[in-house]
Amino acid sequence: MSKIISGFSKLTKEEKINWLTKNYFHNQTETVNIIKQYWNIDADLQELHDDFIENTISNFYMPFGVAPNFIINDREYVIPMVVEESSVVAAASLVAKFWSTRGGFKTKVLGTTKIGQVHFMFAGDKQELETYFNQNKTELYAATASITKNMEKRGGGILAINLVDKTDKLANYYQLHITFETKDSMGANFINSCLEAIAKKFENDNIEIVMSILSNFVLECLVRAEVSCKIDELGGENPQKFAEKFYQAVKIAEIEPYRAVTHNKGIMNGIDAVVLATGNDFRAIEAGAHAFASRSGQYTSLSHCSIDNGIFKFWIEIPLALGTVGGLTALHPMAKLSLEMLQKPSARTLMQITAAAGLAQNFAALRALTTKGIQHGHMKMHLQNILNQFEASESEKEIITAYFDKRTVSHSAVVEKLNSLRKPIINWIDFLDENKVRTHLSKLNAASIPNFGSMNAQQMIEHLSAVTQIANGNWFVNTFVSDEKSARRKPFLNTDAELQTGFKASFLAEEPNELKFNSIQEAIDDLVNQVALFVKVFKFDAKRTIVHPFFGDLDFDDWQKFQVKHFTHHFKQFGLV
Ligand code: MEV
Repeated sequence: MSKIISGFSKLTKEEKINWLTKNYFHNQTETVNIIKQYWNIDADLQELHDDFIENTISNFYMPFGVAPNFIINDREYVIPMVVEESSVVAAASLVAKFWSTRGGFKTKVLGTTKIGQVHFMFAGDKQELETYFNQNKTELYAATASITKNMEKRGGGILAINLVDKTDKLANYYQLHITFETKDSMGANFINSCLEAIAKKFENDNIEIVMSILSNFVLECLVRAEVSCKIDELGGENPQKFAEKFYQAVKIAEIEPYRAVTHNKGIMNGIDAVVLATGNDFRAIEAGAHAFASRSGQYTSLSHCSIDNGIFKFWIEIPLALGTVGGLTALHPMAKLSLEMLQKPSARTLMQITAAAGLAQNFAALRALTTKGIQHGHMKMHLQNILNQFEASESEKEIITAYFDKRTVSHSAVVEKLNSLRKPIINWIDFLDENKVRTHLSKLNAASIPNFGSMNAQQMIEHLSAVTQIANGNWFVNTFVSDEKSARRKPFLNTDAELQTGFKASFLAEEPNELKFNSIQEAIDDLVNQVALFVKVFKFDAKRTIVHPFFGDLDFDDWQKFQVKHFTHHFKQFGLV
């Protein structure tokens, strides 16, 4: 049956979820539970989030972290970051602390203007078009008066409208290329509204408007962030070497696009996290940043480094069209909280803070890459994710984090360590300790019920004795264990694994043996005697080996290991350990 649906957006939230789970999920109840688990218990708050987009069925959590100790232009900041990559906030915090004792970040806004364009087609004489444009320019400004009024009060508005001839690239293609200042708002709505009003005014029988839209290529909405110190102040074992390698890493990103993309991705780890936390449009920022990185025709690094006269300098220049009023910044309670945390910054200040976060991230990545390698730190953070994935308790986390402090973290190593911690502690029975054996077994009586198997308590004791007698040479069991099988099975004796519940050697009869003794006490005495004899016979001939019916030829050492497992297995059978 077709799953194409009409009028989906008109269904209620419940109806949408029902339709979705019925058509696309196996376990409807479980799916509905997960979807609803992420609803906010405050219905009004949930409704606010529902209304951000169409067809909202739930919320998708992302971690909201904070990176303290940023000093930017001598002012202290804690930077909010929304990001799922485990090492990002930790790296930002570390680097912020590092630079806080070396003068902090120095930042500067290089420009704040934004661009919008009216794209249109005109097939006539260019001169005529220019005349028409010049004659109507004032009218174009006037067409936006109602929209620009408030913005102009805040010092913003339309700064320039230019006619651009693009006919050398595409026949009949011209633009109105318009420059805006949008002050503290990101300004997307403002710009687009102005553009549409201008386009409407400009349109005539010969001018065909194709589209009117802002550009995310904001070459002049630019910010610079920088850190610098004397090379000696960089610390570490060899600061000069560190600085040189770091410098080389940046130079590589400047000339090698494959590296530059990853290098810049690291920068965007920090930038996007702040952009998201403050309710800004991270797609716009990403698009603008990467376009800026390719402005020369070759994709290159957004950050740069110099070493001059013993001074290490590292900086970034990046376009960041951010806003601190309007849009989601005013609607999302967490975005508002982020902005308050940043001491209610202007858009200019937010550009600087965000650039500093990007530079910090880049510094952290390059420092790691050129020294210990990236996986070291990443895996440390990844460790916490693995531990959470396996629902490790706080004490398990503590033990395992300490264990991996100086060890290489890998998924399998963490899981193995966790499993070993979680293994039940086995109280192995020292079968040679007569007192302990007697104390345990004295708790048994004819009414004792086994946890598994069909032997009663006395049959079990007599069974332990019988198997000990194989080792003693008093019971010959006619089973053949090939060398190959023995080689495969014997290593088990050296592990800390237990004999499996329900394991029954093939030489044993289906039903338990007839009882040999008149009481449990007599059976215990016999067992203790057989164990004493066991020690004696092997002491008498230290090189002696005896075939075990399952493991094959065993010496004294192997037999003892087997006996420990065997006694423990049967003591557990009766709940004695
Ligand atoms: C990972 O998210 C970011 C890095 O790859 C950045 C870089 O290589 O510079 C570590």
